[in-house]
Amino acid sequence: MANLRTRLFGVEMPSPFVLASGPLSYGAEGIWAAYRAGAGGVTTKTLRLEPAINPTPHIVVPRSSNLRATLFNSEKWADLPWTQWVESELPALKNHPGILIVSLGHTAAEAQVIAGPVVETQVVDAIECVAYRRDALPSLVRAVRDRTDLPILAKLTFNWGDELYETAQAALDAGANGYTAIDSIGPTLEIDVNTGQPRIGGAGNRAWMSGAAIRPVAQAVVAELVSRFNVPVIGTGGIFSAEDAVEMTMVGAAAVSVCTAPLLRGLAWFGKSSERLNRWLDERGYADLAEVRGIALSRLHTADGTTPLTFDFEPTLCTLCRLCIIVCAYAARQIEGEKPRDSELKQILDTERCRSCGLCVEVCKPAALRYGNWPREQR
Ligand SMILES: Cc1cc2nc3c(=O)[nH]c(=O)nc-3n(C[C@H](O)[C@H](O)[C@H](O)COP(=O)(O)O)c2cc1C
Repeated sequence: MANLRTRLFGVEMPSPFVLASGPLSYGAEGIWAAYRAGAGGVTTKTLRLEPAINPTPHIVVPRSSNLRATLFNSEKWADLPWTQWVESELPALKNHPGILIVSLGHTAAEAQVIAGPVVETQVVDAIECVAYRRDALPSLVRAVRDRTDLPILAKLTFNWGDELYETAQAALDAGANGYTAIDSIGPTLEIDVNTGQPRIGGAGNRAWMSGAAIRPVAQAVVAELVSRFNVPVIGTGGIFSAEDAVEMTMVGAAAVSVCTAPLLRGLAWFGKSSERLNRWLDERGYADLAEVRGIALSRLHTADGTTPLTFDFEPTLCTLCRLCIIVCAYAARQIEGEKPRDSELKQILDTERCRSCGLCVEVCKPAALRYGNWPREQR
């Protein structure tokens, strides 16, 4: 059995899966349920001075079946008062397993009131600072740092575009020790095609996207953060499977956090994902996640490769589905022959027309068509 134990800021977690700030971490009851289900850590719903009153409805599944593992939400921060968190929710989490991170937002003025009492509960392992406005994050981190030596995570959002990296540096300068990346992305807008009405409540019916659709963005941000800054990053955004967690770890994530997957699949997701991750590592002979952590970073290309692709074709695997021909924007492909999986089948490529985009290989399910000169171990 591979070892899934993961250390974050010196705290040992039974698994690398942290429940991210969201509906499931609404209070102590939900947080205990997550720990019992196998979460290696939990981040609370975001504490602010005023409890949230949420619009209704505030979570929708997109209509498009291509986005079924994605959510749009217009949910605000914690709807329990911060005083209740300090007086009863956090004390009820004494002796929790793994890591407990308190999410605190969104301004320095709020942190000046809330951070001290949160730290005094003595059950918290780290504070996560989250701000909607980019310029509010460094002062928020500073206000928390003035009140505690606990590790501070700065939560980053790609809604700030590439400027998020300047903000990340500013957060470190203000006293942060690591990052959670990324928050949900938006705004988005969904319309009910039967009624013409917006599908979600909230100001302007605007919502924020989480889940599968944002994972590649999250991963690019994590890779960039790990390359630029030598601090732990909790990779967050769209992780649904063990392989997703491995990918995020391969670009250097110290741990991963998840909100949409356990929300849609139930808390049992944590136990199942740990089992699958264990099996994935075992099957490939890895002893633990540390062995895969960051291995993709040295393979990230700094310059464009422009060598024309060559292709290998195995006719006995070709089902004659002709997808390689259908998706070729440049009409560069043909197949000679009539019988599927016939050793006489021939792929004909017009190398003058081919732009080496690679889409024909990507859509070939039986892998009859492969790259000849794209290093396989990098795929
Ligand atoms: C319904 C919902 C509520 C959320 N509430 C918060 C919140 O209060 N504070 C916060 O920092 N992030 C919040 N998030 C963002 C998540 O913590 C996470 O960063 C984001 O959803 C990406 O991860 P995922 O794709 O695994 O869901 C919320 C996400 C969802 C879907």
